[in-house]
Parts: sequence; C-alpha cells; structure tokens
Amino acid sequence: MARRPKVVRTLPGLRRVLAGYGNASVALVPTMGALHAGHLALVKQARRRAKRVVVSVFVNPTQFAPTEDLASYPRTWNADLAALAALKVDLIWAPDANTMYPDGFATRIEPGGVAKVGLEDKFRPHFFGGVATVVAKLFTQVTPDFALFGEKDYQQLRVIIQMVRDLNLSPKIVGVRTVREKGGLALSSRNMYLNEAERAVAPVLYRVLKESARHVKAGERIATVLTAGRRKLEDAGFSLDYLEARHALTLEQIARRSEGPIRLLVAARIGTTRLIDNIGV
Ligand code: PAJ
Repeated sequence: MARRPKVVRTLPGLRRVLAGYGNASVALVPTMGALHAGHLALVKQARRRAKRVVVSVFVNPTQFAPTEDLASYPRTWNADLAALAALKVDLIWAPDANTMYPDGFATRIEPGGVAKVGLEDKFRPHFFGGVATVVAKLFTQVTPDFALFGEKDYQQLRVIIQMVRDLNLSPKIVGVRTVREKGGLALSSRNMYLNEAERAVAPVLYRVLKESARHVKAGERIATVLTAGRRKLEDAGFSLDYLEARHALTLEQIARRSEGPIRLLVAARIGTTRLIDNIGV
C-alpha cells in the first residue's frame, strides 16, 4: 500500500508541512479534483521535477459563471485520494472556499494579452480572471519551484505563463501534453456528462483538428481549412463556439503559415456539454 499523502485544509497547517520540507524542491499541480489520467500525467511529471509534490484540489468558484456547472461539477474525493497515494504525492492542499476567499476578499487579478484574444475569454468572460487569481494565490501559499499545467487548456497555460512573467512570480511553468482516449478524445472531468450517443460523436473534435493541421501543413489556405473543419463539426452534431488558427505563443490571429508557429484551437458543445481541444501544427 502506498503511503497516504498528507491532506491539509488550513493555511497554518500548510505552512507547517512546507516548513518541514526545508530546502527540498517543490512541484505544484493545481487541480479541481475529479482526477483522471490527464491530471495524473501532470503529477508524474511533477515527481520527476522535484523532491516534493503538492497537488491542490479546489473547485474554484470565481472561475465559474452563475450559469455554469459549479454546483454539479464532479467531486470524487475518495478516488482522487487513492490515485494520488499511488503516485506518492506528498501533500494534498484542499482548502475550503472560506479559506481561499474569506469574508471581505476583494482583490482580483485581471489578465490581458493572451487572456483577451476572443477564444475562451469571449465565451467565458469571467474565467481567466478567476483562474489567474486562484493560481496566483496557490503560488503564494505553496511557493513551488515548479508548477505543471496541461496543454489541454492551452489558452489557460499561456495566461499562466504570461502572469508569471508579468508579476515576476517564481515558479517555473511546465506544460504537459494532452492525454487522450484511444479514439483521440482529450480526457476531461466534464466527459462524465456525455451520454452514450454524445460519447460516440465526441472524438470527431480531435479528428477534425488533426485533419485540419495536416491540411495547413500541406500548404492549404488557412481560412479554407477552417471553413471546412467548422462544417464537419457542425455536420457531426456539434454546436461550435470556435475553431481557430492562432499564433502558438501570442494567440493572435494568423492568416499564413509563415507568420509563426500555429496552434489550432476548438470549443464546441455537444448536447449540454462544452468540450475544448487544441493541436500544434
Ligand atoms: P482542472 O480542469 O482540474 O485541470 C487541472 C490541470 O489538469 C490543468 O492544468 C489542465 O490543463 C490539466 N488537464 C486536464 N485534462 C488534461 C488532459 N487530458 N491531459 C493533460 N492535462 C490535462 O484547469 C483547472 O483545473 C483549473 O482552471 C485550475 C488551473 C486548477 C485553477 O482553478
């Protein structure tokens, strides 16, 4: 049996455990729980990077809009604990909402730049402010040397990198490749919401990304490739928020392959579930 990670829920408790680590390097993996193999890939990378691995589990209310799924967001604490124990995580930081946002909390980080390019920010305007604020707090609380984020949430990863640079925060940000099911569907806690028929359609999202990337690489006009991709997704039953080609670092619009490294990014709803994915070209 793997040793159970320490579970800490208060700031004084967190400080005590971290003090015990002395000068040992620390890697942090921020999560909202409902862990799957994608999260666990981050934890495994963290193990390789640092002597001590801290995983935060906090369903962050400030990144959900009132209309979104905060109340129903999947919570699978016992399974999460078992999975993290098996990976020899040292510490699970699981504050409650009052610890993170006590009465009178009134400061928010408002990222610009890559957080304001008309992708996720257009459809979830509250989202990156909530993410940046909670991640900055996690960095201050845990003071990690490394922090790991998935490429699955590509714009989020770029926002964190930008925030760390802009605010001179100390952790080195490590991006980790997207973990997928056999059929290509990116693992996501929200995949639990899909019914059988929707599950059958969901892999089309990645298939279209891959095909589109291949066409762009082959030199086809980006606008033409995207129009065809959008049509395929809609024909498969998705209702599309966006399918876009952007500069992989600035997330600015890009019209020609020569303008820089390209990332294709997609967000689409199937039934009531919203899925996002992306791929490098
Ligand atoms: P959550 O959705 O729980 O994801 C936690 C981390 O796991 C993120 O860095 C995300 O990109 C990564 N991840 C999710 N699915 C993945 C997959 N299939 N392959 C690789 N990595 C994957 O993202 C958040 O939580 C929150 O916004 C958070 C950063 C914790 C702030 O509240």
